[in-house]
Amino acid sequence: MCGIVGFIGTSNAKNIIIDGLKKLEYRGYDSSGIALFQNGGLKIKKTIGRIANLENAMLGGDYESPGGIGHTRWATHGAPSDVNAHPHSNMAGTIAVVHNGIIENYVELREWLTKEHGVIFLSETDTEVIAHLISLYYENDLVDAVYKAVAKMRGAYAIGAIAANEPDKIVAVRKDSPLVVGLGEDCNFIASDIPALLKYVRKVYLIENNETVILTKNDVKIFDKDRNEIKRDVFHVTWDAVEAEKDGYDHFMLKEIHEQPKCIEETLSRRLTADGKIVLDGISMTKEDIESFNKVCIVACGTAYHAGLVGKTVIEKFAKIPVEVDVASEFRYRDPFVDDKTLFIAISQSGETLDTLAALREAKRRGARVLSVVNVVGSSVSRESDDVFYTWAGPEIAVASTKAYTTQLVCMYLIALYMGLTKGSLDREEFDRVITELKAIPEKLKTLLTKEPVIADLAKTFYKTEQVFFIGRGVDVGVSYEGSLKLKEISYINSFAVAAGELKHGTIALIEQGTLVIALATQDALYEKMVSNVQEVKARGAVVIGFAKEGNQAIENQADKVFYIPECRDEISPLLSVVPLQMLAYYIAKLRGCDIDKPKNLAKSVTVE
Ligand code: G6P
Repeated sequence: MCGIVGFIGTSNAKNIIIDGLKKLEYRGYDSSGIALFQNGGLKIKKTIGRIANLENAMLGGDYESPGGIGHTRWATHGAPSDVNAHPHSNMAGTIAVVHNGIIENYVELREWLTKEHGVIFLSETDTEVIAHLISLYYENDLVDAVYKAVAKMRGAYAIGAIAANEPDKIVAVRKDSPLVVGLGEDCNFIASDIPALLKYVRKVYLIENNETVILTKNDVKIFDKDRNEIKRDVFHVTWDAVEAEKDGYDHFMLKEIHEQPKCIEETLSRRLTADGKIVLDGISMTKEDIESFNKVCIVACGTAYHAGLVGKTVIEKFAKIPVEVDVASEFRYRDPFVDDKTLFIAISQSGETLDTLAALREAKRRGARVLSVVNVVGSSVSRESDDVFYTWAGPEIAVASTKAYTTQLVCMYLIALYMGLTKGSLDREEFDRVITELKAIPEKLKTLLTKEPVIADLAKTFYKTEQVFFIGRGVDVGVSYEGSLKLKEISYINSFAVAAGELKHGTIALIEQGTLVIALATQDALYEKMVSNVQEVKARGAVVIGFAKEGNQAIENQADKVFYIPECRDEISPLLSVVPLQMLAYYIAKLRGCDIDKPKNLAKSVTVE
């Protein structure tokens, strides 16, 4: 999704902005651009494709400048192209803007600007209207013009604007799209996300909705929508820039796969006391609150939704409360049955996914108590929730989520166990048994990760396949969805997941000689049934890779290959079984020569509907 970086200060703005944009590459983009103050005017350069293209286009030119704005664009309105790339400017080229989000009334604004004010548009984007609107209201006061322009706009936006006549200043404004300000020495920054700034600053302001920021090299001022100045506490970033680097791995995804034992340990250890209690830091739910809930709604997108499916199983099992799981884009439009007896759980790595945020607001409007499970500290979802339970996975850079998913699972287990014990629907002995098993997961995962060469070999055998089916039962259904999503996201193989019992109701028609089926058979209680499902597809010519727990060997008689995960309870097996699937997707994508960390058409943080 689009990324914004702005810099005002004394050093070479161009290099700092380009560097920041590179750190935002993980959000997904198809073109990039930069606008710099120079010789009383603005110098703008933009190109389709990777940031390297932009750098090449600037080679040898004079781009010396104390400030400017840059952008990585993920196309929504108008195809990826040089012209549609940001920054966009007014006709005189004296005002430039970068924007993340969507201006919903841009068609009517475009018509109005064209007919009433003779504006000639160059691009197909919604963003260009912002530049022309600011220009229309500009009377040597950029702040005033931005306020007036914003008053005309509907939609979601984080905007950075500069004017040639005011070369000491960047004006930024935010509504529903992320925006942070970095506080430097003799310089200041704006960005869509903290990693863009980590190399330069540790002190940050988190900008809220409908706030406008004015940055000069020595000062940052924040104002609300009525132009009253706001005092904001400085947020000190505690994580390291190296945490956001590759650390010797070929890809961020592989690094993040390997970080999972450490991340799970971190997520757990912050919540478990020495005497075996769970402390839900950031959650103020009392016993009475928990007893008052008559249902739980879990809402999320993509991988986070798959974590929600496992969450449903464990909350129903341990806390004995009915749970609905929904994809966020559907939830908000289906007139959901939600009231003040509902616990609404939003799961989101980025905490900025617009659909999830909108669903959360809808649930709040209907009176629900909102608990979010979020990775990015200070993100919009976390700020708008009643309670926040952080996953503490550290920055996740690869678009395909791995460590965020497994830590989301850990959070779901902890929430379910806590609610169950508090309500009395789960006895202390059973609670202790599950906690003991959870604590053993990091070590088991380390052992499992040593089997990486086995998975790499499997990838060599199967990477040319063009179609894969994932099947499973119980919590393995959710893991099948996640394994299938990982594979399609990064290898572009047509992959499809289905509950194994549903196969015979349709999907089995697609199984033919040589079709690859990945069968998850990790559930003791459902093992025999899974073995029968494997038999069904084998009888129709499928090639099967089975995933089972050590000791459950019956599947060997049916499957062509079997990969064993360490023994564990059925409910928590997703923490182990998903990891070989992540690795399989990774090695298959690598052998197919795919851009693993930045797959085509995908974005890490999806801030549009
Ligand atoms: C995008 C990403 C997925 C992610 C989903 C939800 O589609 O490509 O990897 O699972 O958004 O993101 P969130 O940040 O809300 O977890």
